[in-house]
Amino acid sequence: MTWYPVATTNDFITERVKTIFLHDVKILLIHLNNRYYAIEDLCTHDGGDLSGGEIEGNEIICPRHGARFCITTGEALTPPAYEDIETFPLKIEGDIILIESEG
Ligand code: FES
Repeated sequence: MTWYPVATTNDFITERVKTIFLHDVKILLIHLNNRYYAIEDLCTHDGGDLSGGEIEGNEIICPRHGARFCITTGEALTPPAYEDIETFPLKIEGDIILIESEG
């Protein structure tokens, strides 16, 4: 597993969510309660994008059919999704945001 620099904290001065690609995987970086989280931008219900979904508290709502996922754990919270979404370890070095992934 390797840490990859994917964004800076300055990217979140005006935005709460940023989409990045790492090894062809689309990932959402989300700034929430002064922490950062990385989740795969892929709903486990029917493969929809989670980007564009509303964020309520620490939950993101799939824009297609309304499944809710916990941003901090990836847990599927409501039907029609039953499988958790993938999350990625994330750390900050200076103002660089790094996520850990297989090379
Ligand atoms: S694709 Fe996300 S709830 Fe159906």
